Formats: sequence, C-alpha cells, structure tokens
Amino acid sequence: MKKYYGYKNNIEVNVFDTYEQLSEAAASFIAERMKANPNIILGLATGSSPVGMYDALTAKYEAGEIDFSAVRSFNLDEYYPLPPENDQSYRYFMNENLFDRVNIDKANTRVPNGMAKDVEAECADYDVAVAAAGGTDVQVLGIGGNGHIGFNEPAEAFTAGTHKVTLTENTIKANARFFASEADVPRYAVTMGMGCIMSAKSIVLVANGKAKAQAIADMLTGDVDPLCPASILQLHPEVHVFIDKEAASLLG
Ligand code: F6R
Repeated sequence: MKKYYGYKNNIEVNVFDTYEQLSEAAASFIAERMKANPNIILGLATGSSPVGMYDALTAKYEAGEIDFSAVRSFNLDEYYPLPPENDQSYRYFMNENLFDRVNIDKANTRVPNGMAKDVEAECADYDVAVAAAGGTDVQVLGIGGNGHIGFNEPAEAFTAGTHKVTLTENTIKANARFFASEADVPRYAVTMGMGCIMSAKSIVLVANGKAKAQAIADMLTGDVDPLCPASILQLHPEVHVFIDKEAASLLG
C-alpha cells in the first residue's frame, strides 16, 4: 500500500491492490472511531463501492469488536418517489447490507423519505435533524464517474441544503441495470447537499476501478469546481480516501 497526500495534507489517500483491502481498511477506520465514541453519528452511502466495507463492518460486529447499539446514522440520499419496501430503494439497500446484520436500532437510522408528500419540508427537516445532531462524525461517500457525491451532480454551483434533484439521463441509464426497465427508474432523488456533507467531522470516501480514475484525479488535483462536485472536499479539514490501484491510476 502506498499513501499519497492531497491538497494541503487535509486529504489522506490510501491506495490498495484490491477492493477487499480498501474495504477492510475503510471498515477498520470506522471501527476505531466507533470504539472511541460508542454514540457515533455515521453518515452512510449506498451503491456498489461501500458494499465490501459494510461486509467488513458486519464481520467486525460478529467478532464482537464493535457495537452499534448507540450508533445513529443519516443516509446521503434516496430515490423519489420510491417506497422503502421497494428492493431498489436506498432504505432497502441499507437494511440488507448493514442494518439487518448488526445491532443498530433502526429508529436511530434515517434515510430521506422517498415518499414524502411535501418534499421541501422533508429536505428542510433533514437538514435540521443533521444540524441538531451536531453533524455526522464520519460521513461515508462513494463517487460517481463524473465526480458526483450523493446525488449532487456536476452543475454551475454547489447546493448547500438537502434538495430534490432531477436525475440526468446518464444517471438514469447507469442505474437502469438495477431496475426491471429504464422506465422504472425514478426520475428524481432527494440528496443531502454540500452543507450537510461538509459539516461532517471527518469523511471517508471509497472508490475502485478505472471508471473512477478521472473523477479521483479531478477531485484531488483539479480546481474546486462544482463541475466536479467532489472537489469541494479539498476544503474539508479531514478526508480519508480508500481506493484501489485502478482508481488511483491517474494520480502522479
Ligand atoms: C450513493 C451515492 C452515490 C454513489 C455513487 C457511486 O448513496 O450517493 O453518489 O456513491 O454514484 O456509486 P457506485 O458505488 O455504485 O459506483
């Protein structure tokens, strides 16, 4: 494993040979924070990238190393409209990949409500709840091939608050593989904005594969630019990146 330090040394980049190794390292980082603070507030991500990390966290829980009983969590995003019972919802994903496998109290877990009647009120309430909790202690992120984090897509400007987004044709096509057909992919999502993400005390970003290499390079070495949403992390005081060789292949 080699380490590469990004902008102003606030971003620690850990490069591994394999996905299993990066997943284990990210899980170990979170496990250490959980041991130090049993009441930790986790910000959580879905998608394929953190699946190995959730498996490794589950293994640590089963080995008696970590305890989720006092842990609280806020997820980054949810499709809209989509009910939590739908097997493509991010609530369903979290139950399957982590919550149903460990001793977390689901009442302490929050995923944006993909069925909220008043979506603006849901977004405002989400921001209030995260702020009332004092922000997350560790926010887990994946990254899109275009540099998106959460569903904050490349845009003219960063958006601070939790908000409803219209999914781009690219994202709909990329996510269609998980649904029966492209027509079944919801056209909207609710996502944390950059305010919530940046209010996290520390950030863990996991990524693997060549398809992420350009986004990782732009995030670390490009300008802070809303056209690469993840580049805003250059302004965060504590970011830990766990990636494989392929995702690191465009770093110097
Ligand atoms: C998921 C999320 C997204 C993903 C990103 C990468 O909650 O917010 O930003 O992290 O789209 O997805 P994967 O890991 O499937 O490549």
